[in-house]
Amino acid sequence: MNQSASLPNHWITLRNWSRDHLNSLLLLAHRLKSDPLGFKPLEGKTLAMIFHKASTRTRISFEVGSTQLGAHPLMISASTSQLSRGEPVEDSARVMSRYVDGVMIRTFDHEELLRWAQYSSVPIINGLTDLYHPCQILADLLTIQEEYGLDRPWEELSVAWIGDGNNMAHSWIEAAITLGFHLNLACPEGFDPQASILDYAKSRGANVEVMRSPQEAVKDVDVVTTDVWASMGQEEEAETRAIAFKHFMVDEDLMNIAHPESIFLHCLPAHRGEEVSEAVLEGPQSRVWAEAENRLHAQKAIMARLMGGM
Ligand code: CP
Ligand code: NVA
Repeated sequence: MNQSASLPNHWITLRNWSRDHLNSLLLLAHRLKSDPLGFKPLEGKTLAMIFHKASTRTRISFEVGSTQLGAHPLMISASTSQLSRGEPVEDSARVMSRYVDGVMIRTFDHEELLRWAQYSSVPIINGLTDLYHPCQILADLLTIQEEYGLDRPWEELSVAWIGDGNNMAHSWIEAAITLGFHLNLACPEGFDPQASILDYAKSRGANVEVMRSPQEAVKDVDVVTTDVWASMGQEEEAETRAIAFKHFMVDEDLMNIAHPESIFLHCLPAHRGEEVSEAVLEGPQSRVWAEAENRLHAQKAIMARLMGGM
C-alpha cells in the first residue's frame, strides 16, 4: 500500500486524509473489531475528552474504546475547568499537551478546533463540530464495507443523503471526494451543503450531486442515509425546519425506489416520524445498530493510529 504521503497529526476532517491513509485506517478498524481486547497500544497513555455539546455514542465509544486500548479516558467538564471561565484555547491546548496523549473535542465552531490543532503537540480528534462529523463517517464507511465486502471498489457504490446539508453531509461529501463513490444529496432549497465544500468537491472531480427530489436521489442507490432536521445549536429553528423538510422523510416508499438490497444508515439520535419512519428505522434494511457499534471500532482505529503508532 502506498502510504508515501505523511500521516496527518490530527483527525479534524476527512479532506486531510489520503485515500491510502483512509483505506488503511478502515482495515485497522476491521482488525481491532475482530479482537476487541487484543491490542493495547495506548498502555500508560491518557485521552482527554471535552464536550461542549450533548453526546451519548461519541462519549461512550471514546471512553470504552480508549480503555480497551489500554489508555485512561479523562472527561474534562467545560463548566468545572477554566475553559468556561475564558482561558484561551491557545493556552489550554499547550498546557493539556503536557499532560495527555490525545484530546477529543466536540464543539460548535470548527475554527475553535483548528486552533486546538494549531497549538496542541498531541493529536486532536474532532468529535463533531457545526461543520463536520468525521468520526461518524468512518463508522459509516466501516458499516458499508461490512455489508458490501472489502473487495468492492468504492467507485461501484452509491449513497443518497436525504435532508439537511449539515455537518454529516459535509463529511459524506469529503468521503466521496477521497474514495470516489457516487453521492446524491437531496436537500430542500436553502438547506444545501456549504458552497465552498461543494466547490471543493467539483474541483476534485468528485461524483457529488445536489438535487431537490429525494425520489431522484435514491434511485437504485446502495445506501440511503439521513440525519435530524435541526442539529444541536439549531433548536430554535426546529419548527420552521419541520415545514421546509416535510417531504424529506425516509419512509418505505422512498426505500422502495433505492436498490432492493440497499441499506439504511442514520448517525442517531433519530426522530421517528420526522426524518425517518419507524418502519424504516426498525426495518430489515436498517443497519443503524451495527453502525452505532462501529463508532467504537472506528474510533479505536483513529486513536491506535494517531496516539499508538499502530
Ligand atoms: N451520532 C453521534 O455522534 O451520537 P452522539 O451525539 O450521541 O454522540
Ligand atoms: N447533525 C447532528 C448530528 C448529531 C450526531 C448534530 O450536529 O446535532
